[in-house]
Amino acid sequence: MRLMGYARRHEDRLLWAGRPALFALLRFGGMFGPIRHVPRLGWVITDPVLARAVLNDGAHFTLLGEGGVGHLWEQVLGDYVNRIFDGPGHADLRSRARDLFTDASARQLVTKVFDPALAPALDRLHDGRAVDLADLSRVLVGRMMAELLGLAPDDPRELFETGERLAALALGSATSTGLPPEVVAQAKPIIAELTRNVPAAFASADPSTLLGRCRELGLSLEETSGLAALLMVAGTETAATAMTRTVALLHDTGEQHRLLADPDLLPVAVREGLRVTTPAPVIGRHVSRDTTVAGRELRAGQRVLLLTYVANNAVGPFSLDRPYDPRTRQLWFGAGRHLCLGAALARAEIGHVLQAVFSSGRPVVVGPRRPARGVLIPSYRSLPVRLG
Ligand code: HEM
Repeated sequence: MRLMGYARRHEDRLLWAGRPALFALLRFGGMFGPIRHVPRLGWVITDPVLARAVLNDGAHFTLLGEGGVGHLWEQVLGDYVNRIFDGPGHADLRSRARDLFTDASARQLVTKVFDPALAPALDRLHDGRAVDLADLSRVLVGRMMAELLGLAPDDPRELFETGERLAALALGSATSTGLPPEVVAQAKPIIAELTRNVPAAFASADPSTLLGRCRELGLSLEETSGLAALLMVAGTETAATAMTRTVALLHDTGEQHRLLADPDLLPVAVREGLRVTTPAPVIGRHVSRDTTVAGRELRAGQRVLLLTYVANNAVGPFSLDRPYDPRTRQLWFGAGRHLCLGAALARAEIGHVLQAVFSSGRPVVVGPRRPARGVLIPSYRSLPVRLG
């Protein structure tokens, strides 16, 4: 239990350093009860079953419009977002993109993309030297981004940082998803820069690559570019923070010894890491039609904040004994028609890194760590580890 408190304190420090206002919302959000209306924020929901009900209810909730992430995207990508990010256009796109990442294809992709950068880091670890896992995670995820966007993986750190800068532009959107013109003006060149190779890669990419598969699935260039921009933001900081923090949690709770003794616990470690870190800690929605949730009347035009971090962590601390919980299911990936498209890829990425870090059979020791500040997704700026 003492170790659980130690792990919790590190997680709290991370949230506080990254986004103090978010930390306060998540800390006190649990006291609001399952659903409460909060001035300026809108409806705040902390109960996992209610959160899932909202995510599954496309008739009354949308991510387009004030409060939803689609509203942010519409302002920086253009009106086509309204056609493909929700409603019939989105359903059609999702049905065609369903097989973009399967567990098997994700594992293959992760091995191909991660191993060239993981191998030297593992050599270092096995030589008894320290490796900064936070930096390594940015390199690995930056390489994945390059692969998915058809860019050369020459400078994965820079690619990651560019994605991080784009995501950070959403930092002021907690009380309104309307972006000031200067923020839109900053976002556009970043997106253009990151997706610069999409048209060429879309035309010629091998069907084994993501962009090639998009073409084969019949997605248009516009849809593919939109998807590529979305992947950059949705799948980089989230995956990097999850892999680094899961190693930290395994160390801080002492559960790494259980994993070392029984490597079959790896999928539980991945699931628990995702649950406790919940890298996308809040999901926003816009109420599109009047409705009732748990006896409360929600009016069209209002905002809803689903505090998935609170809902997932209410189940209890990180534990490799914890079975699958039907209340949370996999709420860290959302639910319903916007359920994370990269869930299989994210699980494969985290699993691959854990497997590599603990492959020597020895526990890790964590050196002085540093949280990142002013980032959309709280994470470690540095997490030095060495083998114990
Ligand atoms: C640990 C890592 C990740 C977490 C925790 C995560 C979480 C989420 C969540 C909560 C949503 C739902 C958002 C909503 O309903 O508004 C989502 C959607 C999405 N994610 Fe992930 N994600 C992760 C990694 C990835 C990766 C690696 C990719 C792809 C490279 C990806 C691609 C997407 C896309 C495209 C969507 C939008 C799906 C749609 O609107 O239909 N994500 N993610």
